[in-house]
Amino acid sequence: MRHETIEKNMGLMIVLIVVAISFGALVEIVPLFFQKSTTTPVANLRPLNALELEGRDIYIREGCVSCHSQMVRPFRSETERYGPYSVAGESVYDHPFLWGSKRTGPDLARVGQRYSDEWHRAHLYNPRDVVPESNMPGFPWLFENKLSGNDTAAKMEALRMVGVPFTDEAIAGAKDEVRGKREIDALVAYLQQLGTVIER
Ligand code: HEC
Repeated sequence: MRHETIEKNMGLMIVLIVVAISFGALVEIVPLFFQKSTTTPVANLRPLNALELEGRDIYIREGCVSCHSQMVRPFRSETERYGPYSVAGESVYDHPFLWGSKRTGPDLARVGQRYSDEWHRAHLYNPRDVVPESNMPGFPWLFENKLSGNDTAAKMEALRMVGVPFTDEAIAGAKDEVRGKREIDALVAYLQQLGTVIER
């Protein structure tokens, strides 16, 4: 009888479905906020420097995450190809995290130091120059756009509020560190440190 009431009342049914699904999500997600293994940084994890941080914002702006994940899953097929699988402690300073799920291109969680800076620049200018069969778009404007560094310190301060341990010196020097650099230099600096804290 009561079941019939619910099935005949769309509004009530929607509310109850939302409650049921949210409860499932809460039970799975909330404990992770309090688990040590997901909140403690791995050994040697450091906050990004000012240039890498600007590079990360360019990575977000250009939508790299929509074709590239940054998470090596714990399967042999993945670790043989990319290296050690990702652990939560590597991402504790990432706000927002860029794990992604769409892999039009390869995972980038361990791409740091795999290629030279030169290779990355050539690849990002026109991927087909180094990987003829590539369908990745080129990003030639990154070679022209310069960084002003005007917001870098403010970004670092905001990240510090959510727990990224930037030092006062790093924040004070941020503007000089990035001012006048090209966007491509920031992006390559960001790519070259990806996944390098884990022993490979
Ligand atoms: C439309 C999808 C797409 C977008 C957007 C995209 N990529 Fe790619 N990327 C690919 C594909 C496909 C490959 C594999 C072929 C190649 O190496 O070019 C690739 C390869 C790469 C590689 C080489 C990885 C390796 O292990 O060999 C890097 C580094 C890379 N992309 C960085 C980026 C960055 C940085 C951005 C954003 C500025 C970006 N990609 C945006 C599709 C994409």
